Amino acid sequence: MENETLKRRILSGIQPSGDLTLGSYLGAIRNWAALADEYDCFYMLADMHTITVRQEPAELRRRTLTQVAAYIACGLDPQKNTLFIQSHVPAHAQLGWVLDCYTMFGELSRMTQFKDKSAKNTDNVNAGLFTYPALMAADILLYQADLVPVGGDQKQHVEICRDIAARFNGIYGNVFKVPEPYIPKVGARIMSLSSPESKMSKSDKDQNGCVYMLEKPEDILRKFKKAVTDSEACVRYDQKEKPGVSNLMQIYSVCTNRDFDAIEAEFAGHGYGDFKAAVGEAVVELLRPIREETERLLADKAALQAIYRDGAERASRVAGRTLGKVYKKVGFIDR
Ligand code: TRP
Repeated sequence: MENETLKRRILSGIQPSGDLTLGSYLGAIRNWAALADEYDCFYMLADMHTITVRQEPAELRRRTLTQVAAYIACGLDPQKNTLFIQSHVPAHAQLGWVLDCYTMFGELSRMTQFKDKSAKNTDNVNAGLFTYPALMAADILLYQADLVPVGGDQKQHVEICRDIAARFNGIYGNVFKVPEPYIPKVGARIMSLSSPESKMSKSDKDQNGCVYMLEKPEDILRKFKKAVTDSEACVRYDQKEKPGVSNLMQIYSVCTNRDFDAIEAEFAGHGYGDFKAAVGEAVVELLRPIREETERLLADKAALQAIYRDGAERASRVAGRTLGKVYKKVGFIDR
């Protein structure tokens, strides 16, 4: 019905709350371009979600634009995918409000992300942080998405979205498609370079642990030189005993398409210095074309604007149809 193509539809939202990391590139973004062959994909920069935590306005603008450009540079063709910014499609706020009225205080109180974030931001436990899952449900349900790719931390939000959709459908008939979470084929799980027991993350306290997708080559090389290893001085995969070296091997393997045996052979008899330098170089070369293309796209503001405007228009058409149905069902008068 809403979906003109016969492909199943995917919707995913990404918060422009920090700079993109090597971990998110290797673990997720890198695999997205290929999805467009099989699915009708919508990718949204969830800037409205991001302001549930206080932001520096200029920084939020910079990150949002940079990420639009970076996703395209990573191979997300804006012709084949619908790439848009959440605040450009007012239907999100509109359906978000309606769904607030079909989401229970008790359910929202049980969300682990709300509990975590309100414990972390005690000076700003705002209503948006609390109703965040209803807005996210609106994001998904507006597009009648079949599948929602999410990491483990967002699964509970997809669950509550399903509950809200089922509740609404139970009252008004089949308005919303009830979506499924989609766990994409496992990308690499990249760990921090400075504390390889934990995931590489932009919120890592030690900034040497996290490599950013658009970082300067010299900074990337420096971070890899400082990467934590062990005292064995042997390049060998052993996740448990050698988490640092194994993580570097994992990264090198994804960059060069070589398996662990080949990597062990390549560095047999070499010290960690050579190995870390080689991994750093491989990452620099992998990211170079992406960084250059991102910079090229950002330099032409008008062309970039044309892309996200077109995305917003396409998204608005789909979202508007669902919103119209919902307004009618709940008893609003047609303007
Ligand atoms: N809450 C998600 C996150 O923080 C981002 C998000 C917003 C999202 N809306 C969405 C993800 C809709 C999937 C679908 O990662």
